[in-house]
Amino acid sequence: MLTIRFALFVKSRRARVLRGSCERGANILTSREGTITVYSEAMAGVILKDVVKVYEGGLKVVDRFNLDIADREFVVLVGPSGCGKSTTLRMIAGLEEVSSGTISIAGRVVNDVAPKDRDIAMVFQSYALYPHMSVYDNMAFALKLRNTSKAVIDEKVQRAAKVLMISHLLERKPKALSGGQRQRVALGRAIVRDPKCFLFDEPLSNLDAKLRVEMRAEIKQLTLSLNATTVYVTHDQEEAMTLGDRVVVMKDGLTQQIGSALEIYNHPVNRFVGSFLGSPPMNFFTGQLVEAAGRLWFDEGSGKLPVPERARAALRPRVGQELVLGVRPEAMSDKAHARFQTEDNQLSMNVTLVQPLGHKMDVSFATARHPRAVAQIDSNAELRRGETLPVFFDMARVHFFEPGENGQNLVPASTR
Ligand SMILES: Nc1ncnc2c1ncn2[C@@H]1O[C@H](COP(=O)(O)OP(=O)(O)OP(=O)(O)O)[C@@H](O)[C@H]1O
Ligand SMILES: [Mg+2]
Repeated sequence: MLTIRFALFVKSRRARVLRGSCERGANILTSREGTITVYSEAMAGVILKDVVKVYEGGLKVVDRFNLDIADREFVVLVGPSGCGKSTTLRMIAGLEEVSSGTISIAGRVVNDVAPKDRDIAMVFQSYALYPHMSVYDNMAFALKLRNTSKAVIDEKVQRAAKVLMISHLLERKPKALSGGQRQRVALGRAIVRDPKCFLFDEPLSNLDAKLRVEMRAEIKQLTLSLNATTVYVTHDQEEAMTLGDRVVVMKDGLTQQIGSALEIYNHPVNRFVGSFLGSPPMNFFTGQLVEAAGRLWFDEGSGKLPVPERARAALRPRVGQELVLGVRPEAMSDKAHARFQTEDNQLSMNVTLVQPLGHKMDVSFATARHPRAVAQIDSNAELRRGETLPVFFDMARVHFFEPGENGQNLVPASTR
């Protein structure tokens, strides 16, 4: 079947695409310039099927990991330290053996394929540049090992350097570069290899906050323009949300949730996911589900919040039981600044701290049962520490979880 698609290709990619077509030719693609290029459908998808990693001594650090990454998709693995992100990435790269399950790249199972033959390029947190080599030689190194001709190496290095704006640094040694420049060299070294797939392991964590945000945008731009499939590991939830077409949230070697950043942000499957994405994090209130005057209420102890219609059917069997209400800071407000209905959906709360952010402010509130909940409110709301006021909850955006740190979301995804 022939499919016509429109895309903007950089020159090198088109060359590679043409090569791919010789191997498995499938589709016709029209570039912006109007040239017709044939490329392979299965170009660079990555599929992990029931992947398990058990280290020596029986420690299982990745457990039945399943993920189907589409060609040219940008997937981010995010989770707390030690949850198995790097191990997963290293298994894709071939730097770590898979204990069971399969990993396929571009339609081929690669479990037994050497890293150098997987057509991937990995960028590490440490950059791992060779200190005694110039920037040029660092970038050229992998190509030299492949016996690529000098002319081709030069063309590729110069082009990557131009894209990354480091052409003027090619003769320098890594020690004479700033962190951001070293990071670009590490990226350049990956780009020149023209890989099917980029793997990034916390590539920005050595940079200061401002540069990190800049480089984040550059990495996204770059992978878009290279049409590369990318797997990116970070423990930074903001990086994960801003970069990923899809985000995989991991904990203790287990996948918790896979979806777009907004799906996961708005519909977390459990309390862990709810608390991991978002800053300030989601607030949690432990309370009891009660029925009064023919309605269901969440009884926080110092007041009651009405259970919204969408959650009633799922929660009704739990009347009398303890449950946890989760609410994001932006779904709480004083009456004057609430952008949602304000009726009986409020608790009386005491202001314990006001932290201005400019456009908004983070206000910490306390009730007798819950000493700290943070609301993000318009900065012109004149709230003062010590003041007690009704704080309204946007019940369309609250979540109900089972009790416990990893409690499941009790409302089915379709009505969440
Ligand atoms: N070679 C090894 N032998 C035994 N255990 C290991 C080995 N490498 C990693 N681990 C363990 O596997 C678990 C997962 O490690 P991994 O490096 O994948 O975590 P991570 O999610 O990348 O964490 P971080 O955010 O800190 O980089 C950790 O408990 C770690 O101690
Ligand atoms: Mg790691």
